[in-house]
Amino acid sequence: MIEFENVSKFFQGEAAVSELTLNIKEGEFTVLIGTSGSGKSTTLKMINRLVEHDTGRIRFAGEEIRNFDPKALRRRMGYAIQSIGLFPHWSVAQNIATVPQLLKWPKARISSRIDELLALLGLEAEQFRDRYPHQLSGGQQQRVGVARALAADPEVLLMDEPFGALDPVTRGALQQEIIRIHQLLGRTIVLVTHDIDEALTLADRIVLMDGGKVIQQGTPLELLTHPATDFVRDFFGRSESGVRLLSLRQVADRVRTQERLEGEPISETITLREALSLFVDRQCQQLPVVNQQGEPCGVLHFSDLVRGEELRGENAPVT
Ligand SMILES: Nc1ncnc2c1ncn2[C@@H]1O[C@H](COP(=O)(O)OP(=O)(O)OP(=O)(O)O)[C@@H](O)[C@H]1O
Ligand SMILES: [Mg+2]
Repeated sequence: MIEFENVSKFFQGEAAVSELTLNIKEGEFTVLIGTSGSGKSTTLKMINRLVEHDTGRIRFAGEEIRNFDPKALRRRMGYAIQSIGLFPHWSVAQNIATVPQLLKWPKARISSRIDELLALLGLEAEQFRDRYPHQLSGGQQQRVGVARALAADPEVLLMDEPFGALDPVTRGALQQEIIRIHQLLGRTIVLVTHDIDEALTLADRIVLMDGGKVIQQGTPLELLTHPATDFVRDFFGRSESGVRLLSLRQVADRVRTQERLEGEPISETITLREALSLFVDRQCQQLPVVNQQGEPCGVLHFSDLVRGEELRGENAPVT
């Protein structure tokens, strides 16, 4: 869906991104993570041409992005960022309507879309439609920002630290929201974060960057279990909440009870830390689970190992 081929970007002769090769598949949730200044935001902005790349090729839906009209391109890609918030003099409804209005949707369609999005993001339409950004909490503003990015049902959603600076509980709730939206709509999402646990929770594929280069890309499991370099190992080693908390929890806390899977089962009474070792040994993403009586009681997903800690408020942010 989005392909980078040997892409470089220079600012005042310095490479912000160098020889980047990336292949983002349709429907995939890709998370860009890395040290500050490693080129994550630049990479994201090259996708919607807020920043133009200098060398190499970027393709969107098989076509060179230079062949698209930048405005048309941006309307096909939702963009949500932490730092530039909502238009302050516009109501919530007007903010969300930005792109649909540019696309000249009929009024009634825009109006019902606003209500639909507010509901999707857990905001009561009647209560929030006519409020102004300053009348919202930070978390509510973030939700409206995500709603605005989703408004015209874009093929791609680009998000640059959209949940940064939020308290862990709100951030956890918004992460769950975005996971739900991803599963529901199957959109291609590229998200930038510096939060390792957020990356492990959200990503189908993680791209770890340093100094304008991709150091390693792969599934969360691959990066955790087969770090390509010491840098990767150290980077993920900083995720204390991840592995430490796993020793405190049992498989029963994370098992999806509605699901069943063939294969050699694990017991719901072992710790998630032990389960992690089994994922690594067996190189799989899912494990069947049995209860103390040995009866099948669900499936444990690798991606659920770290998920949900923030919601319980036990994992104060390390930042
Ligand atoms: N408009 C610009 N002009 C000059 N230099 C820039 C510009 N934008 C980015 N850079 C430089 O390019 C490099 C990569 O910046 P970028 O914003 O992509 O990093 P990042 O990975 O998003 O960092 P952070 O985690 O701090 O947001 C940095 O060294 C930055 O100073
Ligand atoms: Mg950035």
